[in-house]
Amino acid sequence: ITIQLTFILLGYLLGAIPFGYILTRYHTGENIMEKGSGNVGSTNVKRIAGKKIAVLTQLLDMLKGFLPVAVCLLLTNNEEIVSEFYIYCVALASILGHDFSIFLKFKGGKGVNTTLGASVLIAPFSVFISGAIYFIVKWRFKYVSLASIILSITLPLTELIIHGLSSTFYYLLVCTILIVFLHRTNIGRLLDRRELSP
Ligand code: G3P
Repeated sequence: ITIQLTFILLGYLLGAIPFGYILTRYHTGENIMEKGSGNVGSTNVKRIAGKKIAVLTQLLDMLKGFLPVAVCLLLTNNEEIVSEFYIYCVALASILGHDFSIFLKFKGGKGVNTTLGASVLIAPFSVFISGAIYFIVKWRFKYVSLASIILSITLPLTELIIHGLSSTFYYLLVCTILIVFLHRTNIGRLLDRRELSP
């Protein structure tokens, strides 16, 4: 149990590293939390620091979710250390780290990239389908936030259609609830037609 809790804590701390904040500060000197939407995710990084830094942020934010889950899955042979439920906990720890970072006074991003990184080994097909839908919605409506919200809903929905009410479905549902909750100001802006684009 000590090893398990250590991994969850490490997952949280890795997720909590605010790459968008650090890279924007380093590149432009600006505090991203006071610019654009105020979000530390790659969408806002693109607005403030440009595309290259945004792509780098996106990759690193995905990696924060991917690494802890990958390490846990490598340990799956040792069933005592790793159960399915435990992998969901580690994935959620890194996502919560990103969303509520101890290094940003428990503020943070909206968790889309970290959720994708954390879920790609757990539910590869759902991640692939929702990623494709994300690009279609973004291309058609030009709002990243709308595409992200629809992506987050597609994740558990795809899992539900393929595998029914599996434990992975409930894990993905928690991810959706978090992402939609963290987009609540975006939803308000979308309804008022005041959302920042892209
Ligand atoms: O993943 C975040 C994106 O959906 C919205 O970002 O900066 O427009 O709030 P932002």
